[in-house]
Amino acid sequence: MKRIGMLTSGGDCQALNAAMRGVVKALLNGEEQVEIYGFEEGYRGLIYGNYRMLTGRDFAGILTKGGTILGTSRTPFKLMREPDENGLDKVEAMKHNYYKLNLDCLVILGGNGTHKSANMLKGEGLNIVTLPKTIDNDLWGTDMTFGFQSAVNIATDAIDYIHTTAASHGRVFIVEVMGHKVGWLTLNAGIAGGADIILIPEIPYDIKKVVNAIEKRKKNGSSFTILAVAEGAISKEDTKLSKKELKEKHKNAKYPSVSYEIAAKIQEKTGQEVRVTVPGHTQRGGSPCPYDRVFATRLGTEAAKLIKNGEYGYMIGIKNRELVKVPLEEVAGKLKMVSPDASIVQEAKAVGIKFGD
Ligand code: F6P
Repeated sequence: MKRIGMLTSGGDCQALNAAMRGVVKALLNGEEQVEIYGFEEGYRGLIYGNYRMLTGRDFAGILTKGGTILGTSRTPFKLMREPDENGLDKVEAMKHNYYKLNLDCLVILGGNGTHKSANMLKGEGLNIVTLPKTIDNDLWGTDMTFGFQSAVNIATDAIDYIHTTAASHGRVFIVEVMGHKVGWLTLNAGIAGGADIILIPEIPYDIKKVVNAIEKRKKNGSSFTILAVAEGAISKEDTKLSKKELKEKHKNAKYPSVSYEIAAKIQEKTGQEVRVTVPGHTQRGGSPCPYDRVFATRLGTEAAKLIKNGEYGYMIGIKNRELVKVPLEEVAGKLKMVSPDASIVQEAKAVGIKFGD
């Protein structure tokens, strides 16, 4: 008999349910009996002992369902070692609940912050297997995270829709794409949607270059320009600011996000009408795309394999299309960023996309 705990932590994304279904179906298909405990709302459920026992039936019909049947929450890693408002030691509480249920393993689905906490629990002696989720695709140790391709589809759709209206009005349009501090989502959706300019955090932009690119397009007969701007895009100027100064700037910002600041500058310098579209959390919503359904199912079955073999302390990732197990300490605390020299950036430049650099 194996007793498995499971939780989803951090921002949700598509295919969390598909991944959990993959784990559970593959475990239940084995010889050994399995009991599954689902912790509610991420680490919070593990800390406060909020869990429910789940059966195979709970995982039926959820392959295509967005969100997470367990709920999720953000429990910042830096606060894990701090007692809660009632003085509860969160780490000890998590260990207590793990041992109380006599778990063999905890399956944790999450992104960057989640992996720091998962690695910490590994260090505390718990058996952990993790699966890489995030629309940002910024997890170290895997070429791909599930949720990413679904989000690329949605952000691309947003750019596609903007194309027709931008062309009719001859306006400049900015589509602001999620991705936190990395540009994978913006880069992929920008190329797929035929954006003229892509601004990502890894390639700081010079507003003069952005303006020049827009004006050049106009001179060459294109009445409109579409920019795909990452929510974390940063100007060359701002890279010179210290962390503290940047924080201060954001605190006092008169614009709701970087795109509005860029829009104001473009409007001022070109005289062209600029509009901003922010698809926001729609990028994390809805059904997982077929790629993510397949990918999450594969990851889930591989997690089940590790659990059956008693191999713990790994994230399952994918490298060159093959599933790999990566020690948690190699994943935790590292971001996978877009390299400005990456071939995909060069290929985008080759078709005329400007990056403002
Ligand atoms: O990490 C996923 C993500 O959607 C990021 O792209 C974005 O910056 C962030 O989460 C938004 O967080 P929240 O849902 O807490 O507003």
